Amino acid sequence: MSEHKQTALVTGASAGLGAEFCRQLAARCEVVIAVARGDKPLAALARELAGEVEVHCVAADLTRTEGVARVMEALRQKGPADILVNNAGFSTWGDFERMAVNRQRDMLTLHADAAMTLCRAAVPFMRELGGGAIINVCSLGALVPGRGYAVYGASKAFLSHFSLALHEELRDSGIRVQALCPGFIRTGFHDAMEQQGFERESIPAALWMEPAEVVEASLQALPAGPVLVVPGADNRALARAALESQLGALRD
Ligand SMILES: NC(=O)c1ccc[n+]([C@@H]2O[C@H](COP(=O)([O-])OP(=O)(O)OC[C@H]3O[C@@H](n4cnc5c(N)ncnc54)[C@H](OP(=O)(O)O)[C@@H]3O)[C@@H](O)[C@H]2O)c1
Repeated sequence: MSEHKQTALVTGASAGLGAEFCRQLAARCEVVIAVARGDKPLAALARELAGEVEVHCVAADLTRTEGVARVMEALRQKGPADILVNNAGFSTWGDFERMAVNRQRDMLTLHADAAMTLCRAAVPFMRELGGGAIINVCSLGALVPGRGYAVYGASKAFLSHFSLALHEELRDSGIRVQALCPGFIRTGFHDAMEQQGFERESIPAALWMEPAEVVEASLQALPAGPVLVVPGADNRALARAALESQLGALRD
């Protein structure tokens, strides 16, 4: 392992939070494996980071078995990865009964199945390295159920729950697992949701965060911070209120 280069694998690296993870991880790593469907934005990111870090682009649709297999192959060839960031994601907007089920299934596959599969592929390599870190990008929606994002929230709740349990299992391995649950972030994430009736303006300005702030909060918490990371005091208050309201149903 003496020739091993510090390596990060980031899914959803072509835009938003994932691209920002690549930028900030460029300062900590020698190699970034950047995964998304869009090969052009990935190539643009690789050009931007050239000179700072070695970038390997992997064009893959993670809702498809072949796409996940391609990423696992990249992990074998360009890895092992010290850091895995399962970040690729999207959301629909609207009541469940009006939604085409295939799109909901794709969301579940991407957030739950693909992320879990990549964790399963990465952990043995991390054990061999003697440590590592997994950041699973979940959402405040995992903690605050609500109308309009039933399957999105549930898929992120799977990922958050899974991350907390995996952290316990890997406690003595030197592998850190983080469930990152951000609130609203200024990225292109809401563009498609707006076509379905989501109104950006309905969200108070104070709740929006920049991708850089969210990634900083995540990476700062990584060494010894909490496993469940909710960036922003207002978001933590929203999460507490939702959890307290659920707890109310359990009181005798
Ligand atoms: N923005 C927010 O307010 C917010 C809040 C909480 C949590 N999050 C979570 O943060 C993560 C990043 O979101 P973002 O805000 O950065 O959104 P974004 O700007 O829309 O970026 C999403 C990324 O995921 C990739 N992606 C989407 N579908 C994919 C697929 N089938 N296979 C592979 N890659 C795919 C996209 O690349 P391609 O289109 O090129 O494939 C893109 O790189 C998501 O998991 C999201 O749920 C976002």
